[in-house]
Amino acid sequence: MLAVLSPPSKPEARELLAWYDRHRRDLPWRARAGEKPDPYKVWLSEIMLQQTTVAAVKPFYDRFLERFPTVGKLADAPVDRVMQAWAGLGYYSRARNLHACAKTVVAAHGGRFPESDQDLRRLPGIGAYTAAAVAAIAFERPTAAVDGNVERVVSRLFLVEEPLPRAKPLIRELAQALVPPDRPGDFAQALMDLGATICTPKRPACAVCPWLEPCGARAAGVQEVLPRKAPRIEGQLRRGAAFVAWRADDAVLLRTRPPSGLLGGMAEPPTSEWAADYDPAKAMLDAPLEARWRRLAGTVRHTFTHFPLELTIFLAKLGADAKAPEGMRFAPRSSLSDEALSGLMRKVLAHALAKPLPRKADAPG
Ligand code: ADE
Repeated sequence: MLAVLSPPSKPEARELLAWYDRHRRDLPWRARAGEKPDPYKVWLSEIMLQQTTVAAVKPFYDRFLERFPTVGKLADAPVDRVMQAWAGLGYYSRARNLHACAKTVVAAHGGRFPESDQDLRRLPGIGAYTAAAVAAIAFERPTAAVDGNVERVVSRLFLVEEPLPRAKPLIRELAQALVPPDRPGDFAQALMDLGATICTPKRPACAVCPWLEPCGARAAGVQEVLPRKAPRIEGQLRRGAAFVAWRADDAVLLRTRPPSGLLGGMAEPPTSEWAADYDPAKAMLDAPLEARWRRLAGTVRHTFTHFPLELTIFLAKLGADAKAPEGMRFAPRSSLSDEALSGLMRKVLAHALAKPLPRKADAPG
């Protein structure tokens, strides 16, 4: 089956670059025209932008750079401080890998990022897309950085009818063939901007697109239905219980999750296992300590990449002398913002602590 048709005319990089020179987005990690990009800033922004929108990244990026202005400062910092600066951005393995990567850049590369796609890919947390983006933007290597936005632009431009993910190698090849030998960094960013502002998933603004003429999807009138996607198998809903133990001195029981795996190394109020067949009616078997636990109305829901989760929240008020079980600690409520709490666990605490307190301390035991 013919998966690609020739576009009505050949798309040229210079058409896109001319558009970029007029319409480029002013982003904090982006070097201004004529300025040399800082590889540390380019790398940091690309890691933050994985699975995360530009709007969500901006405030984190500025704060993170204030705390860790160079790759050396980041490498020297304790991992807990890095996790704390990342708290709220999600996908926490990125923060652990970020720290490991900074250490490797310092220890194995003298504090300078390697410049080629292949060498960058050997670093922790750097996959094909990020390696290509850093190589192109920071080091002017003529390589195509293909993320979801670029897949959409290229599949429309060349009328790729084959569904994703099977079409990925073809789209990569088509994207690479577009990369110009001069200004490959600007070209990579121009493609990102085109995907974000004009060639959007819904109602693309074709009338003002610099590639209106050569666009195959536009000529065929199918720009809104490309790229085609193979049906996705949704993860099954998992359930669990979270236990918020609130001590009379206004401290909350927390523990740190194991370093690897989902939300690895992040802080949380203790939770049960999360499973499709978890029964919240039996949650008392999983409580971290004996107390008068109160099941709160409602649930806290969160969607991870592979599954949705629904947590039932239990709250207990403890006396000021209550001791934390082994491996756990009481954190003052006033310093919860300094804890490496994920967005999910912040939701759990907000759900529990926004409720009025039971009047009398329920003594443990
Ligand atoms: N998405 C991923 N990387 C990006 C970048 N450098 N600029 C804008 N959006 C992006």
